[in-house]
Amino acid sequence: MIIAANLKTNLSRKQTSEYVAELELFIAQHSITQEVLVFPALSSLNENDGDVVIGAQNAYATVNGAFTGEIGLEHLEEFGIRTILIGHSERRHILGESQEELVVKFNYYKALGFKIVYCIGEPLEKREAGKEEMMRYIFSQYEGIDTSYENLVIAYEPVWAIGTGLTPTLQDIKEMHLDLKEKSSAPLLYGGSVKVTNAKEVLEIPNVDGILVGSAALYVEHFSTMIQYAQDISS
Ligand code: 13P
Repeated sequence: MIIAANLKTNLSRKQTSEYVAELELFIAQHSITQEVLVFPALSSLNENDGDVVIGAQNAYATVNGAFTGEIGLEHLEEFGIRTILIGHSERRHILGESQEELVVKFNYYKALGFKIVYCIGEPLEKREAGKEEMMRYIFSQYEGIDTSYENLVIAYEPVWAIGTGLTPTLQDIKEMHLDLKEKSSAPLLYGGSVKVTNAKEVLEIPNVDGILVGSAALYVEHFSTMIQYAQDISS
């Protein structure tokens, strides 16, 4: 399974390096064989030669250049970063990234062979508009995306469940993941208010290949517990 932490705009460089060191210790002490990904803030990116894979929350589709506020391939390569998050709802809805821009980014990092964790998910009004409308919206987020890319991971994160403490029912997640697996056989993560208290039951749902955790992952002991759940379920 893939257990991923999106640290968003949290944890300083020093805190992140302590966080990763604690995770490495946990993984070694508990013989964890699951894939553990951590996406720190861009200024906290660092090389890591242990088991934890460090990924970028964002990068521009360029090696370098005049793109104020962005980082490019050169800045990822400095730390050996080969994993990137694309299409997170906060980038779509707060930073205003369009599907067209995401496709450019996706194709750029795909051509370089990066592992891409591509996020999709519906806002509340789309969910409330009924299943057909909701699925049309979600499928529009696949437009231009190579769903058979070998290094693709998809994360289904309902926008209304992110950072709210609200989650779909286990049955809803089960049905959605079944539908989404028809669109792509890539590993499919669930994200949105995953906590220690619900992680186990979410991980047990068929077609849930892992979780993408935000706020609860900021506590390394909570994130470690979730990694242990995945390990127990997989073995
Ligand atoms: P929360 O776990 O805080 O709801 O965030 C989920 C998320 O956005 C992960 O990418």
